[in-house]
Amino acid sequence: MADSAKDSNLLDKVVSLCKRRGFIFQSSEIYGGLKSAYDFGPLGAELKRNIAAEWWKVMVHEREDIVGIDASIMMHPEVWRASGHLAGFSDPLVDCLNCKERFRADKAPKAEAGSALVYYKGGKKSGEKVSATAGDRGYVCPQCGAQELSSERQFNLMFRTSIGPVDPLESFVDEIQSKTLSKAEIREKLDAAIKSNAIYLRPETAQAMFVQFLNVQQTMSMKVPFGIAQQGKSFRNELTTERFIFRCCEFEQMEMEFFVEPGTQVEWLQYWSQARIEWWKRFANDKSGFRLRQHAPDELAHYADNCYDIEYLYPWGWGELEGVASRIDYDLTKHSEFSGAKLSYFDQQKPDPATGKMGWRYTPYVIEPAAGLTRGVLLFLLDAYAEEKGVDAEGAEKTRVILKLNAKLAPFKAAVLPLMKKDNLPEAARKIVASLYKAGVNVSYDEQQGIGKRYARHDEIGTPYCLTVDHQTLTDETVTIRDRDTTAQERIPVTSALEVIKKRIAEA
Ligand code: GAP
Repeated sequence: MADSAKDSNLLDKVVSLCKRRGFIFQSSEIYGGLKSAYDFGPLGAELKRNIAAEWWKVMVHEREDIVGIDASIMMHPEVWRASGHLAGFSDPLVDCLNCKERFRADKAPKAEAGSALVYYKGGKKSGEKVSATAGDRGYVCPQCGAQELSSERQFNLMFRTSIGPVDPLESFVDEIQSKTLSKAEIREKLDAAIKSNAIYLRPETAQAMFVQFLNVQQTMSMKVPFGIAQQGKSFRNELTTERFIFRCCEFEQMEMEFFVEPGTQVEWLQYWSQARIEWWKRFANDKSGFRLRQHAPDELAHYADNCYDIEYLYPWGWGELEGVASRIDYDLTKHSEFSGAKLSYFDQQKPDPATGKMGWRYTPYVIEPAAGLTRGVLLFLLDAYAEEKGVDAEGAEKTRVILKLNAKLAPFKAAVLPLMKKDNLPEAARKIVASLYKAGVNVSYDEQQGIGKRYARHDEIGTPYCLTVDHQTLTDETVTIRDRDTTAQERIPVTSALEVIKKRIAEA
């Protein structure tokens, strides 16, 4: 079992470190915070960018068959009708009439008809404990256990807004002000007014890759099999936001649509499931914390005929990190239907299976590895967090907190520390910093407090190496390099510091 599952306080410790050290803050904190929205601070922004850069490198830069795009977040509203998000991207929302909790029916605790129930009449905090028998609802309120529930309503997860200078509600107000209308009539007129210039924040980055399929394929002369990749923000009005940045309303995804010949989708699904899980493991300390889980038929999204989730063992149990779905020709077919554009591919070298004649026009099938970047940040923080017990110089017990981030992902690659703030040591240290900056290595110059405290600070933010400039540096042009995980130190020439750090990062 992975270490992360053993420490039930791990998430709290990581959340506290994130705030204390500038990784992640609550959004709009000085105004009391905005529920489920987070800001990445200086170190969190670096960590997130480093994860994204490693993904882009392996998915786009190191492959001839994949190209990247950066599409707009706002898209034509028809995109979401064609994709099925307007009709189907909704959760069954229920209100508990006993404690007023609002929750998702499909995530609620199950209760078989006829089974014994215990719940709190009037709510869990101050309610009276009562016994009852479950009816045929199939589930109970996750908060108080009651079955006194409203009917289920579909709640669309897309954020809706309007585009253009005209306020859609103006015409609505004009229309209803002098009329006596029923609730249903008002609702109908309101919906019609809003619809006229409604647009949606994208709930996934994927659709742009389908909508731009022809432009990308033709301008880049891509031959099937090929992929289009994209990273960026997605928005979902999640009913239940939970566990820090695990599920939030604004998050980032790293998705790739891989277009393949019909009939080859099973092999490509295997290929991408394996490639993607290996990529996550490569940067983690605990490789046993990952698994592939195939979706059961009733779990599959409306567009998929098969899907593997890459799951991670979070402190609360296994949960999704990335989905690798076989989307067949669903999306290209739907967008062809709705837009009138012919989103197909012509292979001159292959005979058409229907006629046997050379040249085959078909709608490619799609394999989609869809990863969460925001969730990836959380996973690598959880995986990296470690505590080591030891004693300080006076013999008192102390705990060393270390963020054992892979050096490629670490916000700072090294810290340059003058032993003292005098005797020209800061000047010598700044010279090293300047040379590392020039070589594109993100390092931190740090002269505050004693050297022990500075080592501890950099261990806690995951800086893999500390270069310490001392009096010997001034005489023989050497520095010590300290390893974050082992705390071992060795002396190296200043002139080789860049090379040593680059080599170690490359090998990490
Ligand atoms: N295009 C397919 C798609 O979007 P998904 O399983 O809904 O599939 C892919 O999302 C990944 O995006 C998930 O595995 C997860 O890592 C991340 N993700 C989805 N919803 C999220 C949310 N509300 N907060 C944070 N990450 C989320």
